[in-house]
Amino acid sequence: MVSKDYIELEDKYGAHNYHPLPVVLAKGEGVFLWDVEGKRYYDFLSAYSAVNQGHCHPKIINAMIEQARTLTLTSRAFYNNRLGVYEKYITEFFGYDKMLPMNSGAEADETALKLCRRWAYDVKGIKENEAKIIVCSDNFHGRTITIVSMSSDPDSFKGYGPFTPGFVQIPYNDLSALEKELEDPNVAGFLVEPIQGEAGVVVPDEGYLKKAYDMCKAKNVLFIADEVQTGLARTGRMLACDHENIKPDILILGKALSGGTMPISAVLADDPIMLVIKPGQHGSTFGGNPLACNVAMAALEVLKEEKLSENAERLGKIFREEAAKIPSDMVELVRGKGLLNAIVIKPKNGKEAWDVCLQMKENGLLAKPTHQHIIRFAPPLVINEEQIKEAVQIISKSIDEVSRA
Ligand SMILES: Cc1ncc(COP(=O)(O)O)c(C=O)c1O
Repeated sequence: MVSKDYIELEDKYGAHNYHPLPVVLAKGEGVFLWDVEGKRYYDFLSAYSAVNQGHCHPKIINAMIEQARTLTLTSRAFYNNRLGVYEKYITEFFGYDKMLPMNSGAEADETALKLCRRWAYDVKGIKENEAKIIVCSDNFHGRTITIVSMSSDPDSFKGYGPFTPGFVQIPYNDLSALEKELEDPNVAGFLVEPIQGEAGVVVPDEGYLKKAYDMCKAKNVLFIADEVQTGLARTGRMLACDHENIKPDILILGKALSGGTMPISAVLADDPIMLVIKPGQHGSTFGGNPLACNVAMAALEVLKEEKLSENAERLGKIFREEAAKIPSDMVELVRGKGLLNAIVIKPKNGKEAWDVCLQMKENGLLAKPTHQHIIRFAPPLVINEEQIKEAVQIISKSIDEVSRA
């Protein structure tokens, strides 16, 4: 079978809920992917930042295989000999009292929302069913009904109503809007992405997160950081919140917590928040399974051992410097932090970001537009300087070819 055959299979038998770039991948190693015809590509998406440690990292794969041979799933009906060890490891790693394990990022976000609401009633003393959570417009927290109820993107929410109430939307990076909404005594939490990844790598003003955090503290409102995409070394720090030295009341992690091997997510908080949920009040069959525990510990160890935050910080600067030099009027803006970056494309002669991505694919680099005119560039953090420079050359050449076509 060749690429075309695999694409036809997905088209015929799979739901049409994605619009992939026409490339069929068969193998990955480090920063590279290979298609079924054996052509090699730089991966500049990293599965939306799930593969920060690089494809098929040997340490993570070994942890996975070893545990897969021993014990994979017990459910939480029983204890297992990996979960407590992992809980100790991850809570010490991030400095929290407790962790609640889930699988997808959306489930972890849902968990954070539940924690926040219960805390509102049991601790803050808000009247039952009246708690509000402030969210930002253009957010992306996943695909469940409750999460799309918080979304301002019609692609995410349209046609899926009725929606979950209890959310107040304010513009991102707008402290006065936050201040105004925080006046409401029924507000229990503020859920925010430190950088809005899906919105197109929108970086807020310096100091925004710290000020927002302080304002939440002053009103006894929980500051909830969705670091599913920005966390785990992606932006040049272990957490994007570390850039402003704030410790969220509730921290949401996913994606690279498994190095891209399986869905593993986690919610971290201190006891006064986490212990509002009692036995039987929340859970997941697969959350905290022994396989995930071993994989997550290995994935976190790799981030530290290979100094991936430092690498992301250093190479991110080089990427933005080099990308800003691309001599094309199709490059409107280069922005980002660490190795979470985006180029805003100015359409030319009817050619858009999608055409640039198709051309980059021809030239051996994979990335995907987020919204119509923005291309996100987020390679695995194990990339080196020579590779980053070569990648920018491919991007530059591709933009040039598209703008001439
Ligand atoms: C910030 C953020 N939160 C949550 C999610 C949802 O994660 P998942 O797709 O694993 O449910 C994503 C996915 O892109 C994300 O970027």
